[in-house]
Amino acid sequence: MNIKTKVIAQSICAFRRAILLWLLSAGIAFSPSVCAAQAPLSNSPGPDSPAIEAQAHAMLAKLTLEQKIELIGGVDEMFTHAEPAINLPRLKMSDASVGVRTWGPTTAYAGGVALAATWDRDFARKLGESLGKDARARGVNFLLGPGVNIARSPVSGRNFEYLSEDPVLNAALVVPYIEGVQSHGVSATVKHYALNDEEYNRHNVDVEADERTMREIYLPAFEAAVTRGHVGAVMDSYNLINGSHATQNDFLNLKVLKGDWDFKGVLMSDWDATYDGVAAANNGLDLEMPSPRFMNAKVLLPAVQSGEVKESTIDDKVTRILRLALRFNWLDRPQLDLADPTYSIADKPVALEGALESLTLLKNVGHILPLDAAKIGIIAVIGPDAWPAVPGGGGSSEATAFDPVSIVTGIANLVGPNVRVLYTRGLPEMNDVFWHTHWEGAVQQSTYPSKDFSGNPESSSTPTVANYKEEWWGPEDKTPRSIRYTASFKAAKAGKYLVLAAASGSDHYKVSVDGKPIIEQVQVEGQHPESATVDLGDGQTVTVVADYLPGFAGNRFGLGIVNESDMISEDAKKFASTADAVVVSVGFNPSTESEGLDRTFSLPWGQDALVETVATANPHTIVTLTGGGGMDTRRWLDKVPAVLHTWYPGQEGGTAIADVLFGKHDPEGKLPVSFDRGWEDNPSFKDYYPIPGANTSLHVTEVGHPPVDYVIPHVKYNDKLMVGYRYWTTTGKHPLFPFGFGLSYTTFSFSKLEVPSSASAGSTVAVGFDVTNTGNVPGGEVAQLYVSDPSAKAQRPERELKGFQKVHLAPGESKHVTLSLDARAFSYWDEAAHKWTIDPGKFVIRVGDSSENTPLQADLTLN
Ligand code: BGC
Repeated sequence: MNIKTKVIAQSICAFRRAILLWLLSAGIAFSPSVCAAQAPLSNSPGPDSPAIEAQAHAMLAKLTLEQKIELIGGVDEMFTHAEPAINLPRLKMSDASVGVRTWGPTTAYAGGVALAATWDRDFARKLGESLGKDARARGVNFLLGPGVNIARSPVSGRNFEYLSEDPVLNAALVVPYIEGVQSHGVSATVKHYALNDEEYNRHNVDVEADERTMREIYLPAFEAAVTRGHVGAVMDSYNLINGSHATQNDFLNLKVLKGDWDFKGVLMSDWDATYDGVAAANNGLDLEMPSPRFMNAKVLLPAVQSGEVKESTIDDKVTRILRLALRFNWLDRPQLDLADPTYSIADKPVALEGALESLTLLKNVGHILPLDAAKIGIIAVIGPDAWPAVPGGGGSSEATAFDPVSIVTGIANLVGPNVRVLYTRGLPEMNDVFWHTHWEGAVQQSTYPSKDFSGNPESSSTPTVANYKEEWWGPEDKTPRSIRYTASFKAAKAGKYLVLAAASGSDHYKVSVDGKPIIEQVQVEGQHPESATVDLGDGQTVTVVADYLPGFAGNRFGLGIVNESDMISEDAKKFASTADAVVVSVGFNPSTESEGLDRTFSLPWGQDALVETVATANPHTIVTLTGGGGMDTRRWLDKVPAVLHTWYPGQEGGTAIADVLFGKHDPEGKLPVSFDRGWEDNPSFKDYYPIPGANTSLHVTEVGHPPVDYVIPHVKYNDKLMVGYRYWTTTGKHPLFPFGFGLSYTTFSFSKLEVPSSASAGSTVAVGFDVTNTGNVPGGEVAQLYVSDPSAKAQRPERELKGFQKVHLAPGESKHVTLSLDARAFSYWDEAAHKWTIDPGKFVIRVGDSSENTPLQADLTLN
């Protein structure tokens, strides 16, 4: 539509709205089909306006209290209720982070942490636009993303869906992303508000954090989404924050979101995250999803009659839904945009662009990369992440990608027929380990008629412990049972042995070897396999005991032990020793990194041994990592010349990885998280799991159901502001790879820093500098600006990211970059005054290519 047609269409739309308002106020029913046949009148959301407010209130006035209450609860898992009396259609939702999921196959993009690794606002907008388009093509009104929780710890299971460890980077990317989505008449839903930074017991955990920590670290991306991105919807998280669930948290919902940030859109719950209808209604929740278990007529009608909940409170919620429907023109046109084919693959180039921009090169000794296909006769591609493609992690973001390109496929496509590409997984499947473990004699199984190994067990024996099933759910089995497996294992030779265990559903287990506990499964909701290694001597016999508590799905336990070098397939060893170069693709996937469970910091079982074995066989070993953040590389990092972090690169990941490995594209991603050596080095480590012995309980009553008492564990954010690089730079210690770091095939220099020597506090300060490509190939660099406030009265992190710019430069090319620092860039949250404060005095401005490499530096005095 050209601009002129668009203006005419918009005026027709305004005219239609006026007619609709008149029909409604005259009590005349209106059929949306009158206009449904017309082309979309305007895709972009209109601004909130007095006309929209008047319309929303006129519509509201037509509704009974019962009808209004019905509108504030979801239906059919992914919809809001329709209300024929005001011609409000039901509004459709879809999950989001890497592609428009829920309604069939889709283009899967490099979203979440991969988007953050691009550090590219323009790409964030492009991604948002593609997602918005894909959503409209499926008739979706609410895209349930983006997720912007902070990557506080590398093990948090949904980091891959979120962005980075830094609030400024998150805020900068989330705004254009939301604008892109919403430019197609689809409301984005920023989630999960707030402090849902771990998956461990996510429904019940009470996160305790002080206000300054929240305001400076955990809330700014939400704030930017609301105040700058004008996001249509916000999704409350599952957890409690300082004693009350997000869905009934007056501080977060009323004081901050709807008060300080003046949010006028819809605050919806996460799915089944509501616990008290009256408290949720009174504390800001507008829409209970996916169904009104608590905010329903049975609870709210008497509450309104008794004055416990004001009718105006219900009215406000309904008005918010209507306001959004009017703002996004959902009453004016069918949301299904027939101009866009539902399953369009047109945005494949956007998926490729995101993958290319996000790949982050961490190590490249002796310039082993880029590889030269003309000099390679055989390349071996080995590992569980080499094939099939791993476009994203697990859980509600898991999109069914169109034709995803695996790493081995991407490499084979790129090198063509003159290079032989050898592929093997290199490791057995998990059940193979369980089935083929050679226990000494039979495994003794004692099944107790209780949940705590008490009572008289029934004894039996089994040759293997191999009941593991991939799916978590099954027919419910309520028999109280606990099972102890006792087995002997004799090492056929001296070496490292991998002990592997897996269960599913809500199972729990512990494994010990010769009485020493080596594995304890701690996840509450979901599960990933657990492993440990033990050193055994030639012929040594050990006793392995597993105490297993089956959950709702019955016995699904698998246990095995295998010599590590025997576990690596023979073809992997052979391919590695014959190839000219090897790419070992390791890391996580949807079953090891997912919503509902935290992941391990160590690589999934067997992968360390695989890298080590391949690297020993071939010095030209390049490791690719798949995952939502840092992971343990200590066992092999010194033995390999090159490491490329691929995050979760979406459906075009394989093509992009091949392009980067072979130098068709510069690796230009930069770490959006600090990459720790070990998890124990991470500042959240000591305070990640709940405080032992501090559990409290919560009594919940749902009408028509027996009351439930939930156990509430408490996690205290004692690390406060010291998240990621804020911790590393303040302590003067160093992670393995710092936040903002990423190698390139070219080199860049920073020069000509321009910073005023003084400015008045509260004014905007412009910082200028040049970036030059000093190498021989085109490349992408991210200029990063950090501010330090040495004269602050309050203790502040040593440096904080306050600006950045991605630049693409040809060899020899320079660009002048200007970054604006507004008042917030110099402020901290004053706990006593409850407001943002600038302490006049000295500030230091640093510019460079990572949080630890800032060659440009100047002082600035704020008066
Ligand atoms: C997730 C949300 C998601 C919702 C709907 C929940 O389990 O936490 O992120 O949007 O399901 O699928």
